[in-house]
Parts: sequence; C-alpha cells; structure tokens
Amino acid sequence: MNASRPMNLVVYLARAGVGSRRSCDELIRKGGVTVNGEVADFPRQKIGPDDVVAIDGETVEARELRYFLVNKPRGVACTRRDPHADRVIVDLIPNGRILFPVGRLDVDTTGLIILTNDGVLANRLMHPRYGVPKTYVARVRGKVSRRALGSLREGVDLEDGVTAPAEVNLRKQSAKTALVEITIHEGRKRQVRRMFASVGLPVEELHRRRYGPIGDKGLQPGGYRELNGDEVEALRRAGEEVATAVGGEVEGDPVLLAAEAPHIASDAETALGEASGARYEAPAIVSLTSADSDEAPEAPDDTRDAPDAGV
Ligand code: URA
Repeated sequence: MNASRPMNLVVYLARAGVGSRRSCDELIRKGGVTVNGEVADFPRQKIGPDDVVAIDGETVEARELRYFLVNKPRGVACTRRDPHADRVIVDLIPNGRILFPVGRLDVDTTGLIILTNDGVLANRLMHPRYGVPKTYVARVRGKVSRRALGSLREGVDLEDGVTAPAEVNLRKQSAKTALVEITIHEGRKRQVRRMFASVGLPVEELHRRRYGPIGDKGLQPGGYRELNGDEVEALRRAGEEVATAVGGEVEGDPVLLAAEAPHIASDAETALGEASGARYEAPAIVSLTSADSDEAPEAPDDTRDAPDAGV
C-alpha cells in the first residue's frame, strides 16, 4: 500500500517502519532518502500515492501499521498458532491474526504484551542491544534476604550466562511469600523465574506491569487497547536508544524490607491482584517446567532489515 492521502515524508518513513520520526528526520537531513530519484532534503515534503520513496536505492512503502497493548490473562499462549493451547494471544483482539506478539510471556505469566504488524519495530524492541526495560511483579515463595536481592541486582549465573544488572525491590514480605518488583533489560527464556530460582526463591505468580515506556494502568486482565501515536513514537525511540550501563544506577538502591516500609506493598499487590482478576490472595503454584519461552522472537511475517544510516 502506498500513501493514498498525501503525508509528510517523515511520517511516510515512520509508517514504513524505518524508525522514529526523529531518526527519519535525521536520515533525510543526511541525504539518505530519495523521492522519485531525487535526494530529499525537506522532512515535511508531501508524499502522494504516485511518489516513489527509497533509502539506499531500496523502495520503502508506508503501510497501515497497527499497535495494540494487551493485558494477557493466565492460560493464554503468546503465539499466533498453537494447536495445544486453549487460547492464543492474537485471538484476544478482533482481527488479531494479522498481528504478532513482541516477545513472549509464559502461559502462566500475566501482564503487558504488545501486538503489532510492524516487524521492524518488533525486532528492535526484542533485540538485546537496546536493552528495553521490562518490569515484573513476582510473588515468590520464601524469605527474601538482602543477599538474594543483591545477587539479583548484580547478576546471577544462569546456564546461559550471567544476567545483566537489574533493578530489584522487595515490596512486601509475609510469613511464607514475598512480592518483589524486578526490572530486567534482557529477554531470555523464562529469565525472571530462573533468576529467582537461582537464589532459592521459586516464583508462584508473575505479572509484567511495564514494557519500556508503556505501563498497565487501567487495562483489565484480558483487556486491550490500541496504542496512541505518542506511545508508538516512545516505543520507537526505546528501540533506538542503545542501553546504557545500569549497574551504577542500581547499586545504590536501598533495600526496603516490609517491616521498614509497609506502605510500599500496595502497588505491587494491586498489580498481581488485578492481573488475576481478583483481590490479592494466595494463588495456585505456577509450574516451573512449562516449555514456554520468554522473548524467543517469533519471526514476524513482514520484516525488512533496518537501514544503517541514521536509524
Ligand atoms: N520471565 C519469565 O520467567 N517468564 C515470563 O513470562 C517473562 C519473563
């Protein structure tokens, strides 16, 4: 599909999945874009249905790109097809079969997942180079020690290597379980569950409450909404900003034990309680042996290598 209505060149490029408007603007200013064979130098140049836009000689076309945020309930598989799953994520959205999930959550994990047909953005968001932060609330079995929190923050040794620094905060400690909020900058298979297991804290419940710049406010379990233009732009930027070292930032984080700060439990409790569609209460234990993976990227149908210049 080409631009049926005239639109700015920079908008056209963003809709072609080339990058954020900011990076497309830079690309144009560096002379990396041609319109009908002429180098374009004006980002707001109008592009109509008959214009041919190219980067490095390769034609790019604006398409109708769709972006949805879904609050995945428990029991839904993060895939487009799975004959063994009761429900798959794309079925939560009308006409969702044209979309694919950006990364994965385990069947038993609840929380935010983005669905889109923008393969370029999806691949960038999943790429470890960009370290897009993902925040989870985990209900773990056992007593959370300062040492365990320190290890999780600094990095734990898993069979696929030591994990990158993470932000970790204890939100509540009860007699047998605890609520811990963790932000990771990677997306390895079952990473959060394996990280906690490595410090002797089995995860009983896991909810993703943030994906990069996007939070879960107001979205009920099983609910979805289309992302607005600002949110999509923020995601595009997140997929362009190469991760800075987070080690320094997390080292100084205070370890807050519930006894010292009981008031901080409420947010995390609400996140898990809402995710299960009920008030927070002791849930069933989640299996740790499921074969589902976390961010194992499902090859999008429509991907194009991003141009190097300016993106
Ligand atoms: N880490 C996990 O262990 N499971 C998920 O679903 C997501 C992150």
